[in-house]
Amino acid sequence: MTSHQRITAIAVLAVSAIWGCGVATAQTYPSKPITLVVPFAAGGPTDIVARTLAANMGKTLGQTVVVENKLGAGGTLASAYVAKAAPDGYTFLIHHNGMSTAPALYRKMSFNPMTDFEYVSQAVDVPMTLLGRKDLPAKNMPELITYVKANAKKINLANAGLGAVSHLCGMLFQQALGVDLTTVPFSGTAPALNALLGGQVDLLCDQTTQTTQHIKAGTVSFYGVTTKQRIRALPDAPTLSEGGLKDFEVIVWHGIYAPKGTPAAMIEKFGSALRTALKDPAFSTRMTDLGAEIVPDAKQTPEGLRTWLQSEINKWGPVIRSAGVYAD
Ligand code: MLT
Repeated sequence: MTSHQRITAIAVLAVSAIWGCGVATAQTYPSKPITLVVPFAAGGPTDIVARTLAANMGKTLGQTVVVENKLGAGGTLASAYVAKAAPDGYTFLIHHNGMSTAPALYRKMSFNPMTDFEYVSQAVDVPMTLLGRKDLPAKNMPELITYVKANAKKINLANAGLGAVSHLCGMLFQQALGVDLTTVPFSGTAPALNALLGGQVDLLCDQTTQTTQHIKAGTVSFYGVTTKQRIRALPDAPTLSEGGLKDFEVIVWHGIYAPKGTPAAMIEKFGSALRTALKDPAFSTRMTDLGAEIVPDAKQTPEGLRTWLQSEINKWGPVIRSAGVYAD
């Protein structure tokens, strides 16, 4: 064998070893637990969706999907973490509208939502609700509008930080009333809701996945839902638009992401398990009871998420910039 033939033979062996390994990896994937990163506190709305999905997907994948809460900076710490994680199919992120509002809210960001991720799918849409502490004097939305305008200096509004949907909803509420309230940030709306229940904060805009049970139990003051139409889970609840905030609408959408470069076969396998979960009647019944809706099939795709994310960045950027809200 000449030296040229030897080099060619070694190169052929190396290429087939890599190819063979790739095929084996895709075929045996997943061979260990997968981590699904949640950007907010355990027990809150994003965590509830993530854990319900993870339990269901684990059965299809034959491996545990472990939920890991990485808190901070309105969800951007978790996004940055996943953007830099190994693209080996074992780290995914679930995030909501915050992925699209972060570029306008944060002047310095260590990741780019449109270039640093692979997209898996959207999952569920969740309405928000406007709540007050139980003993707040305002008992309905028209009364709340009057009360907040008269007491703006005294009232505080809890949220889960810049980039949280509770922040976005609270910002739009303040804009609509022309007031500037004191905001109190938490690591998620689970601790924010606890503070509201304990009477330490006055107002909170939060998702039905967490708030429905408290609204039904009457442990909070409830002013309405943030959708254009009333919702099935709370059929008697007025919309905020009906209550006087004309055209007020915030719907929380959820996307699943992986680090850029994660092999397409793994994205497909994880995505397929996700779609199986979304079609499971037990999963959809649980979500419907909590006010959430499974997204249509067209959104349960990588392209469905990518184009939606881009349209949301285009939608919220100007709104946030005009409000002059940002972090340096
Ligand atoms: C959470 O899971 O705590 C919420 O989604 C935070 C938020 O308001 O965005």
